[in-house]
Amino acid sequence: MADQHIAVTGGGSGIGRATAVLAAAAGVRVSVLDRDHAAAQQTVQAATAGDVHAYACDVTDGTALSTVLDAAERTSGPITGLVAAAGVDRGGLAHQLPEDVWRDVVDVNLTGAFLAARDVLRRMVAARTRGALVLCSSPAAFVGFAAGGASAYAASKGGVSALTRSLAVDYAAHGIRVNAVVPGATETPLMWAAVAQADRDVMREQVEREIPLGRIADPTEPARAVLWLLGQESSYVTGSHLVCDGGVLAKASISV
Ligand SMILES: NC(=O)c1ccc[n+]([C@@H]2O[C@H](COP(=O)([O-])OP(=O)(O)OC[C@H]3O[C@@H](n4cnc5c(N)ncnc54)[C@H](O)[C@@H]3O)[C@@H](O)[C@H]2O)c1
Repeated sequence: MADQHIAVTGGGSGIGRATAVLAAAAGVRVSVLDRDHAAAQQTVQAATAGDVHAYACDVTDGTALSTVLDAAERTSGPITGLVAAAGVDRGGLAHQLPEDVWRDVVDVNLTGAFLAARDVLRRMVAARTRGALVLCSSPAAFVGFAAGGASAYAASKGGVSALTRSLAVDYAAHGIRVNAVVPGATETPLMWAAVAQADRDVMREQVEREIPLGRIADPTEPARAVLWLLGQESSYVTGSHLVCDGGVLAKASISV
């Protein structure tokens, strides 16, 4: 993956940060975009090697994305890859879910992924770059979470999965591949965002019991799947979902 320049939205934490750090170690130039600029700068510090730069950017603002990606290309050259990892998880049963929460989740997770993909695709098409995009879906795109209350998150991720397939078909003729990673439960702030502090220990035990591999993933595990989708080893893969969930989607929940 040498000679690449990837932009990572949500690169200030979790899976985005792990992807940025691993990519930099592999010699990739990395632009870390996050609405939390301090977090993005911490990712730059966490990268022990490579050419990594931090940018403050809210993915729900298409104009801001464009301005920041212009700056990123001036600093690090034409963008050859996008990882759209910015995301939020705000839960609640549908009949109690405020409209602004629904809109925020869909805005960040789905519209944010679209806006980032749109901007990067414009650049790749104009520069005739045969690049790769990786969007972040979720098991919630495919099944209802047994814990419940995930309607907004699940709908946003179902949209991300549909967007992935559609973009893959539209841009294959340009040599641009578009895939999604499907992380399972991964140890990041987002994983616990919708869980009260007091409930976390019990929930951790239960989640680990229910995952076939018996543990929550480290963020570097889905990050390695993302890097594979970005690189030449996956040159014939587009419109696909790479499931990295410890076996969750392979398992039926009825155990008797
Ligand atoms: N952690 C999991 O268990 C899990 C499982 C499945 C899918 N995912 C998906 O993986 C992706 C990464 O999640 P994570 O677990 O690393 O989360 P995380 O909370 O560790 O990181 C998400 C980052 O996105 C940033 N962000 C949020 N809203 C933003 C916005 N509007 N503009 C720019 N940046 C914004 C946050 O500041 C944060 O740094 C998300 O799309 C998430 O839905 C995570």
